[in-house]
Amino acid sequence: MQEDVAKILIGHEDLRRRTAELAGQIKTDYEGQDLVLICVLKGAVMFLVDLMKELQRPLEVDFMAVSSYGASTRSSGVVRLTKDLDMSLEGRNVLVVEDIVDSGRTLQYLTNVLKLRQPASLRICALLDKRERREVNVAVDYVGFVIPNEFVIGYGLDYGEVYRNLPFVGVLKPELYKMPDA
Ligand code: IMP
Ligand code: MG
Repeated sequence: MQEDVAKILIGHEDLRRRTAELAGQIKTDYEGQDLVLICVLKGAVMFLVDLMKELQRPLEVDFMAVSSYGASTRSSGVVRLTKDLDMSLEGRNVLVVEDIVDSGRTLQYLTNVLKLRQPASLRICALLDKRERREVNVAVDYVGFVIPNEFVIGYGLDYGEVYRNLPFVGVLKPELYKMPDA
Protein backbone atom coordinates (compact mmCIF):
# COMPACT_ATOMS: atom_id res chain seq x y z
CA MET A 1 0.00 0.00 0.00
CA GLN A 2 2.74 2.46 1.00
CA GLU A 3 4.53 1.70 -2.29
CA ASP A 4 1.57 3.24 -4.18
CA VAL A 5 2.27 6.63 -2.61
CA ALA A 6 4.23 9.08 -4.77
CA LYS A 7 4.90 11.38 -1.82
CA ILE A 8 3.68 12.23 1.64
CA LEU A 9 1.91 15.58 1.50
CA ILE A 10 0.97 15.98 5.17
CA GLY A 11 2.61 13.82 7.80
CA HIS A 12 1.06 12.42 10.93
CA GLU A 13 2.59 15.01 13.25
CA ASP A 14 1.41 17.95 11.11
CA LEU A 15 -2.11 16.44 11.02
CA ARG A 16 -2.09 16.13 14.81
CA ARG A 17 -0.82 19.65 15.40
CA ARG A 18 -3.25 21.31 12.96
CA THR A 19 -6.21 19.30 14.27
CA ALA A 20 -5.41 20.49 17.80
CA GLU A 21 -5.27 24.09 16.55
CA LEU A 22 -8.66 23.77 14.83
CA ALA A 23 -10.15 22.20 17.96
CA GLY A 24 -8.86 25.13 20.00
CA GLN A 25 -10.53 27.58 17.64
CA ILE A 26 -13.80 25.62 17.65
CA LYS A 27 -13.80 25.41 21.46
CA THR A 28 -13.45 29.18 21.69
CA ASP A 29 -16.10 29.88 19.05
CA TYR A 30 -18.71 27.57 20.61
CA GLU A 31 -17.96 28.38 24.24
CA GLY A 32 -21.11 28.02 26.33
CA GLN A 33 -23.14 26.81 23.32
CA ASP A 34 -24.39 23.41 22.36
CA LEU A 35 -22.57 21.61 19.54
CA VAL A 36 -23.38 18.77 17.18
CA LEU A 37 -20.63 17.39 14.95
CA ILE A 38 -21.80 15.80 11.71
CA CYS A 39 -19.27 13.47 10.15
CA VAL A 40 -19.54 12.94 6.42
CA LEU A 41 -18.78 9.25 5.84
CA LYS A 42 -16.47 7.69 5.09
CA GLY A 43 -13.61 10.04 4.30
CA ALA A 44 -13.93 12.26 7.37
CA VAL A 45 -13.82 9.46 9.94
CA MET A 46 -10.15 9.74 10.91
CA PHE A 47 -10.34 13.51 11.09
CA LEU A 48 -13.53 13.38 13.16
CA VAL A 49 -11.98 11.00 15.69
CA ASP A 50 -8.83 13.08 16.14
CA LEU A 51 -10.80 16.34 16.23
CA MET A 52 -13.30 15.13 18.83
CA LYS A 53 -10.52 13.80 21.06
CA GLU A 54 -9.11 17.32 21.12
CA LEU A 55 -12.54 18.86 21.76
CA GLN A 56 -12.77 18.21 25.48
CA ARG A 57 -16.22 19.78 25.97
CA PRO A 58 -19.77 18.46 25.71
CA LEU A 59 -20.82 17.58 22.18
CA GLU A 60 -22.92 15.13 20.19
CA VAL A 61 -21.92 13.28 17.03
CA ASP A 62 -23.94 11.94 14.15
CA PHE A 63 -23.08 10.53 10.73
CA MET A 64 -24.32 10.91 7.21
CA ALA A 65 -23.09 9.66 3.88
CA VAL A 66 -23.27 11.06 0.38
CA SER A 67 -21.95 9.68 -2.84
CA SER A 68 -20.76 11.51 -5.89
CA TYR A 69 -17.50 9.91 -6.87
CA GLY A 70 -17.89 6.19 -7.32
CA ALA A 71 -14.47 4.77 -8.04
CA SER A 72 -13.47 7.67 -10.24
CA THR A 73 -11.32 10.67 -9.43
CA ARG A 74 -13.63 13.40 -10.58
CA SER A 75 -16.96 14.58 -9.19
CA SER A 76 -19.90 13.73 -11.41
CA GLY A 77 -21.66 16.79 -10.04
CA VAL A 78 -24.51 14.50 -9.00
CA VAL A 79 -24.73 14.03 -5.26
CA ARG A 80 -26.92 11.50 -3.51
CA LEU A 81 -27.70 11.12 0.20
CA THR A 82 -26.97 7.48 0.98
CA LYS A 83 -27.23 7.57 4.78
CA ASP A 84 -29.18 10.11 6.76
CA LEU A 85 -28.73 11.34 10.32
CA ASP A 86 -30.43 9.74 13.31
CA MET A 87 -31.01 12.99 15.18
CA SER A 88 -32.98 16.16 14.62
CA LEU A 89 -30.97 19.33 14.01
CA GLU A 90 -33.70 21.81 14.83
CA GLY A 91 -32.31 24.59 17.00
CA ARG A 92 -28.88 22.96 17.26
CA ASN A 93 -25.43 24.39 16.50
CA VAL A 94 -24.24 22.14 13.72
CA LEU A 95 -20.67 21.73 12.56
CA VAL A 96 -20.16 19.56 9.48
CA VAL A 97 -16.85 17.69 9.49
CA GLU A 98 -15.59 16.90 5.98
CA ASP A 99 -12.40 15.39 4.62
CA ILE A 100 -11.88 17.51 1.51
CA VAL A 101 -13.53 20.25 -0.51
CA ASP A 102 -12.84 19.83 -4.19
CA SER A 103 -15.43 21.18 -6.67
CA GLY A 104 -17.57 22.14 -3.67
CA ARG A 105 -20.62 20.33 -5.04
CA THR A 106 -20.88 17.81 -2.24
CA LEU A 107 -20.88 20.49 0.45
CA GLN A 108 -23.23 22.70 -1.50
CA TYR A 109 -25.72 19.85 -1.66
CA LEU A 110 -25.19 18.93 1.98
CA THR A 111 -25.60 22.44 3.33
CA ASN A 112 -28.80 22.87 1.32
CA VAL A 113 -30.19 19.65 2.80
CA LEU A 114 -29.14 20.55 6.35
CA LYS A 115 -30.43 24.14 6.25
CA LEU A 116 -33.94 22.81 5.64
CA ARG A 117 -33.76 21.15 9.07
CA GLN A 118 -33.57 24.54 10.76
CA PRO A 119 -30.38 24.34 12.81
CA ALA A 120 -29.60 27.38 14.99
CA SER A 121 -26.30 27.63 13.13
CA LEU A 122 -24.49 25.68 10.44
CA ARG A 123 -20.74 25.74 9.85
CA ILE A 124 -18.25 23.60 7.96
CA CYS A 125 -14.90 22.24 9.04
CA ALA A 126 -12.85 20.59 6.29
CA LEU A 127 -9.44 19.04 6.74
CA LEU A 128 -8.34 19.71 3.17
CA ASP A 129 -9.22 22.39 0.65
CA LYS A 130 -8.33 21.96 -3.02
CA ARG A 131 -9.20 25.56 -3.64
CA GLU A 132 -8.13 25.86 -7.27
CA ARG A 133 -10.68 23.18 -8.23
CA ARG A 134 -13.70 25.01 -6.83
CA GLU A 135 -16.69 25.16 -9.19
CA VAL A 136 -19.38 26.38 -6.82
CA ASN A 137 -19.10 28.80 -3.96
CA VAL A 138 -19.23 27.28 -0.49
CA ALA A 139 -18.20 28.99 2.73
CA VAL A 140 -15.81 26.73 4.63
CA ASP A 141 -15.44 28.10 8.15
CA TYR A 142 -12.53 25.98 9.36
CA VAL A 143 -9.87 24.66 6.99
CA GLY A 144 -7.00 22.38 7.97
CA PHE A 145 -4.76 22.68 4.93
CA VAL A 146 -5.08 24.21 1.48
CA ILE A 147 -3.57 21.66 -0.91
CA PRO A 148 -2.59 21.69 -4.59
CA ASN A 149 -4.58 20.00 -7.33
CA GLU A 150 -3.33 16.44 -6.87
CA PHE A 151 -5.30 13.31 -6.05
CA VAL A 152 -4.66 12.51 -2.39
CA ILE A 153 -5.23 9.40 -0.32
CA GLY A 154 -4.86 8.36 3.29
CA TYR A 155 -6.07 9.64 6.66
CA GLY A 156 -9.61 8.66 5.64
CA LEU A 157 -9.37 9.48 1.95
CA ASP A 158 -9.66 6.66 -0.53
CA TYR A 159 -9.11 5.70 -4.10
CA GLY A 160 -11.54 2.92 -5.01
CA GLU A 161 -12.22 2.43 -1.25
CA VAL A 162 -8.57 1.55 -0.53
CA TYR A 163 -5.85 3.54 1.31
CA ARG A 164 -8.13 5.10 3.97
CA ASN A 165 -5.99 3.63 6.76
CA LEU A 166 -2.73 5.31 5.79
CA PRO A 167 -1.75 7.49 8.79
CA PHE A 168 -0.77 10.44 6.54
CA VAL A 169 -2.16 12.33 3.55
CA GLY A 170 -0.23 11.28 0.47
CA VAL A 171 -0.34 11.69 -3.28
CA LEU A 172 -1.28 8.55 -5.17
CA LYS A 173 1.17 7.58 -7.91
CA PRO A 174 -0.49 9.06 -11.01
CA GLU A 175 0.04 5.88 -13.05
CA LEU A 176 -2.20 4.03 -10.56
CA TYR A 177 -5.37 5.93 -11.20
CA LYS A 178 -7.55 5.91 -14.25
CA MET A 179 -7.87 9.38 -15.65
CA PRO A 180 -11.59 10.19 -15.76
CA ASP A 181 -13.04 10.90 -19.17
CA ALA A 182 -13.00 14.64 -19.71
P1 IMP B 1 -16.55 17.79 -4.37
O1 IMP B 1 -18.02 17.52 -4.37
O2 IMP B 1 -16.00 17.89 -5.77
O3 IMP B 1 -16.14 18.98 -3.53
O4 IMP B 1 -15.84 16.49 -3.82
C1 IMP B 1 -15.80 16.21 -2.52
C2 IMP B 1 -15.61 14.74 -2.30
O5 IMP B 1 -14.85 14.12 -3.32
C3 IMP B 1 -14.83 14.53 -1.03
O6 IMP B 1 -15.67 14.44 0.08
C4 IMP B 1 -14.05 13.27 -1.32
O7 IMP B 1 -14.84 12.15 -0.93
C5 IMP B 1 -13.87 13.25 -2.81
N1 IMP B 1 -12.53 13.74 -3.20
C6 IMP B 1 -12.21 14.91 -3.79
N2 IMP B 1 -10.90 15.02 -4.01
C7 IMP B 1 -10.35 13.89 -3.55
C8 IMP B 1 -8.99 13.41 -3.47
O8 IMP B 1 -8.00 14.06 -3.87
N3 IMP B 1 -8.84 12.19 -2.91
C9 IMP B 1 -9.87 11.44 -2.45
N4 IMP B 1 -11.14 11.86 -2.48
C10 IMP B 1 -11.39 13.06 -3.03
MG1 MG C 1 -16.02 13.00 1.53
